Amino acid sequence: MDLERLLVDRLAPAFAAVAGGPVDPAVRRSQHADFQSDAALGLARRLGRPPREIAAEVRERAALADLCAAVDVSGPGFLNLTVSGQALGGLVSAMAADPRLGVPAVAGPETVVVDYSGPNVAKEMHVGHLRSTVIGDAAARTLEWLGHRVLRANHLGDWGTPFGMLIEHLLDLGEAGAAQELSMGDLDGFYKAARAKFDDDEAFRERSRRRVVALQGGDPATLRLWRLLVTQSESYFLTVYDLLDVTLTGDDFRGESSYHDQLAPTVEELDRLGLLRRSDGADCVFPPGSVGRDGEPLPLIVRKSDGGYGYPATDLAALRHRTGALGATRLLYVVGLPQRRHFEMVFAVGAQAGWLAAPVRAEHVGFGSILGPDGRMLRSRAGGSVKLVELLTEAVQRATALARERNPELSEAEAAEVGRAVGVGAIKYADLSGDRHKDYMLDWERMLSLDGNTAPYLQYAYSRVRSIFRRAGAAARPDADVSRPDAEVSLAEPAERALAIELVGFAAVVEEVADGLEFHRLTAYLHRLAVAFNAFYERCPVLRADGPMRESRLVLCELTGRVLRQGLDLLGIRTPERL
Ligand code: ARG
Repeated sequence: MDLERLLVDRLAPAFAAVAGGPVDPAVRRSQHADFQSDAALGLARRLGRPPREIAAEVRERAALADLCAAVDVSGPGFLNLTVSGQALGGLVSAMAADPRLGVPAVAGPETVVVDYSGPNVAKEMHVGHLRSTVIGDAAARTLEWLGHRVLRANHLGDWGTPFGMLIEHLLDLGEAGAAQELSMGDLDGFYKAARAKFDDDEAFRERSRRRVVALQGGDPATLRLWRLLVTQSESYFLTVYDLLDVTLTGDDFRGESSYHDQLAPTVEELDRLGLLRRSDGADCVFPPGSVGRDGEPLPLIVRKSDGGYGYPATDLAALRHRTGALGATRLLYVVGLPQRRHFEMVFAVGAQAGWLAAPVRAEHVGFGSILGPDGRMLRSRAGGSVKLVELLTEAVQRATALARERNPELSEAEAAEVGRAVGVGAIKYADLSGDRHKDYMLDWERMLSLDGNTAPYLQYAYSRVRSIFRRAGAAARPDADVSRPDAEVSLAEPAERALAIELVGFAAVVEEVADGLEFHRLTAYLHRLAVAFNAFYERCPVLRADGPMRESRLVLCELTGRVLRQGLDLLGIRTPERL
């Protein structure tokens, strides 16, 4: 199905015969032909032969007649490969007839835990949680579409010492008052007020300490108050997920507290395995390879000197649970890069304990920060961290205004719907279209622009496809947006060929992304596809073409629409019918 792989499969045996051993044919897209292979250059020294001679011999030996219209040796020894229109047309037709667009469901589905979002109870979600939520959701959607069993795990911060002061503050406000404050989404106000009292008031501090002990001891009255805080925050987070259009639900909360009962057994097991060391009164594991800046071994503290368990112990228990009871073979942790060291150590200890052994693997899907227009960490006007909700609201407002301006005949409801799809889509796309390891700058103008590598550009290309089919009207077949399996695809114009080559590259990109979770490769692909489509649309009349050519071009349009829709859906981005 995938053109690059087909070419590799044909070239590899020819290279192997010439080199006397396996060679990667190094096929890639080319400016000069459709594809090029550079492998002869690398072989020249080893074989002591001029690269052009090697390339020419590979050309003779490779069985490419049915795939390529031309195979040329060029420059110092490249093989330039021009795919035949017929082969390409056949691939496009097969893809058009396939409801999965040429992307097969995986042969061996895995159970994959995607740990993402993970906000903290009674604290505002900030833009760092945005990245985790957006990237994690794209990962969950993509792996699920490929046929894996995906378990979403929202590792809510719902346990630990701050709950002493939070519960005491709740009691000071009265349950009703506290509930009201929290349901308005003023989580930061609540947290900060509690913190301020804790810092200034010795009596409050003492009450808070006693409250932590009561909570950890399972005191029913305290637990009830704690649960009140948790459910208020959960329902607030769910409204944000809804606004953000992500697939996380109330069933996906796997708060830190849910591992409570497993903490002691987890640490006991580490002890039995002889992995625990005492250090400054705390129980620690020193995973091999973990050293600090000073060269001293770094410990993962699993039980603090006061006997309490912290963040690392919880993550160890969660890992043990996920690979054990849940039977997951792949664990993804979509968490900011500042926590890289933490996860390295957790995974190292997991491996030492035998909870993480091949083929089971864990990956920290790390990401950089979002920067403001000044190139510094994004801050609100007041100087605090920017609230996620404010960011989303602003994006939707801007996009709705834009939709009204472009399309005055849209009704209020339609404009609001388009504004939401475009605004939320623009934010997600901006987040997913850069290398996730890097920081990126929040730039409203750019991310809402209809030009460039943006969600609106792709959504616009999609709406263009839809409008072609609307205009085709009665002449279009009623199932026009399903498949046209009996239409012959003929690719005469260069713009048609270029579009077809992009279309058949979809499967390879999706598979690559499922592996490395680098979604900017998918966005870059979708952008190339939309560019190729727009060029095709400018040069090749569709509805005004006759008979078989019209049918063939309608297949290209329809397939482009389906790939754009599916590709954007994997990223959690909607495709409105009109823009
Ligand atoms: N609650 C954490 C935070 O806000 C993120 C949790 C990430 N997941 C995990 N398994 N540690 O930083």
